[in-house]
Amino acid sequence: TSSVGFVGYRGMVGSVLMQRMQDEGDFANLDPVFFSTSKAGAAAPAFAEGAPALQDAYDLDTLAKLPIIVTAQGGDYTKAVHGDLRARGWNGLWIDAASTLRMNDDSVIVLDPINRNVIDASLASGTKDFVGGNCTVSCMLMGLGGLFKNGLVEWGTAMTYQAASGGGARHMRELLTQFGTINGNVSVELDDPASAILEIDRKVLATQRGGLDATQFGVPLAGSLIPWIDSDLGNGQSKEEWKAGVETNKILGNTDANKVIMDGLCVRIGAMRSHSQALTLKLTEDLSVAEIEKLLAEDNEWAKVVPNTKDATVDALTPVAASGTLDIPVGRIRKLEMGPQYISAFTVGDQLLWGAAEPLRRMLAIAQG
Ligand code: HSE
Repeated sequence: TSSVGFVGYRGMVGSVLMQRMQDEGDFANLDPVFFSTSKAGAAAPAFAEGAPALQDAYDLDTLAKLPIIVTAQGGDYTKAVHGDLRARGWNGLWIDAASTLRMNDDSVIVLDPINRNVIDASLASGTKDFVGGNCTVSCMLMGLGGLFKNGLVEWGTAMTYQAASGGGARHMRELLTQFGTINGNVSVELDDPASAILEIDRKVLATQRGGLDATQFGVPLAGSLIPWIDSDLGNGQSKEEWKAGVETNKILGNTDANKVIMDGLCVRIGAMRSHSQALTLKLTEDLSVAEIEKLLAEDNEWAKVVPNTKDATVDALTPVAASGTLDIPVGRIRKLEMGPQYISAFTVGDQLLWGAAEPLRRMLAIAQG
């Protein structure tokens, strides 16, 4: 068994990671050392029986003793620690949920059901930094791996419907608080079937415009949406939209010669923890819908093709259906009017599972051989 350091195990992504590792019995194969940025010296978590007391997450000497470090502490921590640790010669494996190192030439974005070949080749050639991908990109590739991995996509657009959890735990709370405040302000009228809906609507709008705590998102999300995610790159594109193209190609190991053009619009909606996206793909070949569905269903065990009917779609292709599961439902697959090589698709994925924790958990297992 190898020693593995865990940093940021109590945050939202870290907690999901710890739960998944317990569910899969991963702790039987390693000796965990837990780190904290604020509570060094306190007891290790109860699920890791026998683990030493919490270590200081900024103590480079202690970190440097470990052959593998897994962090879900966030990008600021990675910025503060990773470079210094490498500068003093630490040669261990760094497995990270944050985006900080993702696009570095000497890091690999991990999503092993899609790019196990890239991961294995980079391990063999001495790569030491392994980083989880952007949640939207990872969930999209898990659902549509059968097309992307086989080089069948010439270009694509992803129009996203991203959940509050992508912003963080406080964002999820804020969304629910906003829903509650809105409901509370019209609950008397709602209880009266004879009340006028336009009067209710007027009060809701007044609450949204002046009576909601929007500290986290900056503007109201409940009963609205926010068509911008992450920073403004200054060219009209959001950073989240930029990631769709660069990360998709990096995960697939594509070069300029075989790069897939991916772009789109990223939108925050009032879902809790599953990201959805509507895709338009131009395929390199005129494949039948049946062939496409077969490729997707056979690519990996988590992609679940949903028949393109109303009943199946509303039942299985929603954030409520996908959340808390490792399934990546993919449906609404049909030929678009633009021509035989143009298809639509819709996927949903829990952004805390395949979008964050699961690729890291699996990378840790791969790293341990
Ligand atoms: N940027 C994502 C979001 C978070 O805000 O939804 C996961 O990468």
